[in-house]
Amino acid sequence: MIDQLNEDYARLLEALNEANSSAELDAWYKEALGRKGHITLMTRQVGQLSPEERPAFGRRVNEVKKELEHAYRAQSARVQSAELLATISRDSLDVTLPGRRQWRGRLHPATLTLREIYRIWGDMGFQIYRSRDVETDEYNFELLNIPEDHPARDMWDTFHTTTPGVILRTHTSPGQIHAMREYCPEPIRVILPGMCFRYEQITARSEIQFNQVEGLAVGHSITMADLKGTLVDFAKRMFGEHRKTRFRANYFPFTEPSAEMDVECLLCGGDGCQVCKYTGWLEILGCGMVHPTVLRNGGYDPTVFSGFAFGMGPERIAMLKFGIEDIRNFWANDLRFLKQF
Ligand code: DAH
Repeated sequence: MIDQLNEDYARLLEALNEANSSAELDAWYKEALGRKGHITLMTRQVGQLSPEERPAFGRRVNEVKKELEHAYRAQSARVQSAELLATISRDSLDVTLPGRRQWRGRLHPATLTLREIYRIWGDMGFQIYRSRDVETDEYNFELLNIPEDHPARDMWDTFHTTTPGVILRTHTSPGQIHAMREYCPEPIRVILPGMCFRYEQITARSEIQFNQVEGLAVGHSITMADLKGTLVDFAKRMFGEHRKTRFRANYFPFTEPSAEMDVECLLCGGDGCQVCKYTGWLEILGCGMVHPTVLRNGGYDPTVFSGFAFGMGPERIAMLKFGIEDIRNFWANDLRFLKQF
């Protein structure tokens, strides 16, 4: 039996070395090691041998099986690389096929607009001052001259947290107090960008979450003329030399006097549309001369120092610049919208 096995082994090994294609290899495997293959059948015969013959034959048949499997793997690898080489040298490579396009990310329209705003204010000598998103009632309202029972609080519907007195900022104005307390008594020229949150009805014009860019200048002899000149200059740099602007008197508790600045609606060219509420104008910011109480709360003596402040909405500005008709697009994560920028 063992002699027969050794003979078969030698024969199969020789046949394996002569198998030079995948098809031949497959046939060889089926014949030698497959379910009904020669060696497999021999393994099954162990049980029919006499007890004396059994151990030696069993050991040998297992050895033969392992060696043949090993040899088969080595021969397969050789055949495969030879076949690959043959294909490469035989077939030509078509270099005119278009490659796969790389997916490139892009910036969100709010980010694009924020960067443009930073650049313009940077050119005009304003630094960026980062202020927190989660605020206290004291900074968001009280220090800005809005006492607890003041009716002006209705202007800012507020998200409260479970900790009393801790809220999500409704505007970037509390950053004014942080900046003043840090820089006092030095002069200040900063912008304060960031996310604001309001518990409001979501419509085409207002979202519960949006960016603001606050601005603050504090120094000696700063006047309303500086405020107007600076903001008109900003609007020209942002929207073009010939863009019309206007100031309307308004009320804010933290500035006196206060105003709002409008830019001619770019979407309808001033004729009136859904975005400008059929007025032809789009309000882009609130502004004013910093209230003496606020200056004092920031550590500045209002008889010596004066300043102006403003707060603008970058999403509103992006709507003007890109012709976006609905503010809800900004945070809806719809790629059809985002891919356009
Ligand atoms: N904080 C105001 C708001 O959210 C905007 C604003 C108005 C900011 C006048 C100012 C300002 O700094 O002077 O409605």
